[in-house]
Amino acid sequence: MQKMIKNFADILEKFDFEKKNLKRLWNIDEQTAQLIYFFTLIKSPNNILEIGTSNGYSTFWLSIASDKTTVHTIESDKTRFDLAKENLKEFKNIIHYFGKAEDIIPQIETKFDLVFIDACKVDYINYLKLLITKLNENALIITDNVISHSDSIREFKEFIKNNPNFLTMTLAIDNGLEISIYKKE
Ligand SMILES: C[S@@+](CC[C@H](N)C(=O)[O-])C[C@H]1O[C@@H](n2cnc3c(N)ncnc32)[C@H](O)[C@@H]1O
Repeated sequence: MQKMIKNFADILEKFDFEKKNLKRLWNIDEQTAQLIYFFTLIKSPNNILEIGTSNGYSTFWLSIASDKTTVHTIESDKTRFDLAKENLKEFKNIIHYFGKAEDIIPQIETKFDLVFIDACKVDYINYLKLLITKLNENALIITDNVISHSDSIREFKEFIKNNPNFLTMTLAIDNGLEISIYKKE
């Protein structure tokens, strides 16, 4: 798939330039980018939800694994939302939503096979509770910053670890990733 994207190197160069020159993008690190790409390749999801688009760097990695995947991505900051739309304008399998995830998630009727959570850390617990009815069986939830922001995400972590509908583990990669699988029964 990477080879099918004609200007793959140009797109990565643009993201690299923005990371070095623009403030407040908070892009995921390289290993996390590789990992979400690998998981997307393995899972081959029909629908992905991303909470926290920023300028679209992680969205890019989620979107290139499979032609059959649609990425629904939510961003509440207008400047970063516009930047992501511009950066990813050639990608027809990405749907951009502007607004707060808490307001938008209930309006999306799709069910998801993979979710990437990387927005306001104290609100992770709220996103998760809103998400539960939107998950397909065996949906994979990848959550960033669970080690770097362990205090802010404490409620999220306790909820997901103690809920019998989730299998979950923490990976000590970059800022810490929680990898969780949703089981209805
Ligand atoms: C860590 S950055 C996302 C980085 C992005 N995933 C990447 O790696 O390129 C978090 C983003 O979440 C956005 N955000 C914060 N609270 C949000 C909310 N309630 N709903 C949607 N987006 C939110 C912020 O504006 C910010 O751009």
